[in-house]
Amino acid sequence: MAEEEDKKMIEIYVMGRRYKVPEGLTIMTALEYAGYKYVRSCGCRGGFCGACSTVFRKEGDYKLMMDLACQTAAEDGMFLVQLPFVPAVRAEFEIDELNIEENDNVMLEHYPEIARCVSCNTCTKSCPQDIKVMDYVQASLRGDIDRAAKLSFDCIQCGLCSIRCPADIKHYHLAQLARRIKGRYIDPKSSELEKMVQELKEGKYDEELEKLCDMSEEELKKVYDERKFQKEG
Ligand code: FES
Repeated sequence: MAEEEDKKMIEIYVMGRRYKVPEGLTIMTALEYAGYKYVRSCGCRGGFCGACSTVFRKEGDYKLMMDLACQTAAEDGMFLVQLPFVPAVRAEFEIDELNIEENDNVMLEHYPEIARCVSCNTCTKSCPQDIKVMDYVQASLRGDIDRAAKLSFDCIQCGLCSIRCPADIKHYHLAQLARRIKGRYIDPKSSELEKMVQELKEGKYDEELEKLCDMSEEELKKVYDERKFQKEG
C-alpha cells in the first residue's frame, strides 16, 4: 500500500469519466485499477489475440489514435474507449472449391470493395502490428495472393484497420483469405505435417496431452524450459 502511495498518479478518462491511476500501467490494467472488469475486449493479455482494440485521444491533440490496450502504456490525459468487436462482413467461401488456377482474381471476387482503395494508407497507420496493410490490399488487387499472405502474416485480426477505411474494406478478413489460399494452394505440402495430423487422429499424443492439462502453471513452465525442440532461434 505504501509503495502504491509513492507512485505518481496520472489522470485518464474512460468513456468520458475521470479516474486517477498509477503511472506505468498498460491501458488494460489502468482500466482494471479504475474498477472496470473486462467481460469482452480482453483475451491473451500478451498482444496476440487482437481482442483489446482501443481508440483514444490525448489531451490537447486532435488526433484519434488506436492501439492494443494490453500493449500500450496509459498516459496522463488519455481519453479512452474500448472496442469489443468490429462488425465487418466476412465473405463466405469453401477453401477446397476456390479453384485459383482458373480464376484470375479470387480476392477481388470475394472482396470487390478492394477496387475502391484510394491508397490513403489510413489502414497501415492504424495497425498496432506495423503491418503494411495498404500494400497487401494492393497485392490482393493485383492477384498476388502469395505477397498478400506474407505481408499480413502477423495480423491478429483486431479490426482497427477496417474501422476508419473510407472505402469500407474488410482488410483483416481479406488477409485471412489470402493466408488460407496460400496454405491450401501455394505452399508446398509438408509430409511431416500430414504425418503429425495422422498421428493426432490416431490418438498418439492423447496421454501426453492429458498430463499437460493436469499440470500447474509452474510445472508447465518447467516442462517448457526443459524442452528439447525449438531451443534455438
Ligand atoms: S488481450 Fe490479446 S492482444 Fe490484447
